[in-house]
Amino acid sequence: MKGNNVYIGIDLGTSAVKLLAVAAGGGIVGEADETYPVSYPESGWSEQSPADWMAAICRGVRSLGVDADSVRGIAVGGQMHGAVVLDGYGEVVRPCILWNDGRTREETDYLNNVIGKEKLRELTGNVAFAGFTAPKLMWLKAHEPENFRRIRKVMLPKDYVVYRLTGEYTSDMSDAAGTLLFDVDRGTWSDEMCKVCSVDPALLPVVKKSYEISGRLTKQAAEQLGLKEGTIVCAGAGDNAAAAVGTGVVGAGACNISLGTSGTVFICKDGYIPGGDALHSFRHADGGYHLMGCMLSAASCNKWWTEDILRGDYEKEQRDMPPLGKSGVIFLPYMMGERSPHNDVDARSLFVGMRPDTTRAAMGLAVLEGVAFGLRSQLERAGGAADINRTRICGGGAKSPLWRRIVANVLGVPVETVATEKGPAYGAALLAMTGAGEYPDVKTACEACVRVSGVTEPESELIKTYDKLYAVYDSIYPAMKKIFREMRGI
Ligand code: XUL
Repeated sequence: MKGNNVYIGIDLGTSAVKLLAVAAGGGIVGEADETYPVSYPESGWSEQSPADWMAAICRGVRSLGVDADSVRGIAVGGQMHGAVVLDGYGEVVRPCILWNDGRTREETDYLNNVIGKEKLRELTGNVAFAGFTAPKLMWLKAHEPENFRRIRKVMLPKDYVVYRLTGEYTSDMSDAAGTLLFDVDRGTWSDEMCKVCSVDPALLPVVKKSYEISGRLTKQAAEQLGLKEGTIVCAGAGDNAAAAVGTGVVGAGACNISLGTSGTVFICKDGYIPGGDALHSFRHADGGYHLMGCMLSAASCNKWWTEDILRGDYEKEQRDMPPLGKSGVIFLPYMMGERSPHNDVDARSLFVGMRPDTTRAAMGLAVLEGVAFGLRSQLERAGGAADINRTRICGGGAKSPLWRRIVANVLGVPVETVATEKGPAYGAALLAMTGAGEYPDVKTACEACVRVSGVTEPESELIKTYDKLYAVYDSIYPAMKKIFREMRGI
């Protein structure tokens, strides 16, 4: 392979698409971010327009400034679980219902309580969570029967992008696993689960390995992106699996935390382990498996607090915070309900413990700490299955040294950063390199390209402080659960 080969990794996020151009060998040669809006048509719902994604990707690829002749491959890592539904002409039937949308309480309850968690686990490896794709399709059937009848293809967000780039309907195992229609153990769609959810299996795309080639850029897509027709496009991965590749988290026991709109803890496993009430059991993009917890609001809590409420600046707000663990306030991060560990669409955020001398800085610190406690609660609920002794970290929140220090001390493990916090985009580029034959497998691509750039060690006194605070944090949700129910619709 030539030394100047370039690969484009695309991270189709919730607030923005993030793109990296990465040279063979791992050096970053171009970066771009393009934002798009989320709409919240009703409380707890969230939707996005796939047309906005495509427009942002076209702008982003063009602004990478790469020479089209050097681009050897593209892959996309994308927000998981979204339901993109297409009609017989390949047109979008309605806006995509996103991973953090909570409208499917009834469908999720039906699946978990009537079909039963054990049966779901047997068929798919997982129990039902409101954000998963299958309950969304059931909701569409019940609430938008006209739209449901028009559906000819069901796609995940990044698969829609691949379809628009290549004309091919494909998915990959890491993302398919998050639909609740996929048998994670066997690595195939589950016909029985499709029957349970009234989904015709013919609507589902062909499932590939993340690094396998899905297709080639069509003439039209190549013109839109400013690239060459025929450039290969790999199947890609769910954003968390792509992020794990991007941080080099591929061997059994390795762990990655993503502090993006969502907050995830991703633990690689050698083989299949069924998911629990806190952690999901999914396929990894390297061909293996992983367990993962997902809190629906992580860096988005800090974004809400810093941008929407304070209209402030991140660095400035974090400069004069009280000493860690001394804010006197505890924040619950359930801004969109919570997935892991509570599986509760009614849960809400709150600040507990305010007094007349509570400052904005104390509340800001409580937000950062509350998110870290949320990460810890996923690991605690999963017990031995989630025993980690160090972790890597990526996502927008990982840019903050203060937040990394908080995470290291709340979890009590060293936290490592790599060269870019854009884990999913970097991982997607590595998948494209593997698909193009630059490296024989994903692990080798990671070994060749990913370098640890820094480590935040936990501090014994702070660990003790946070252990105590975590115990208080953990007791607030059970105390509030009934009140959250009563607040439904308010
Ligand atoms: C994972 C999940 C989120 C989204 C965010 O299960 O729902 O991390 O993938 O993009």
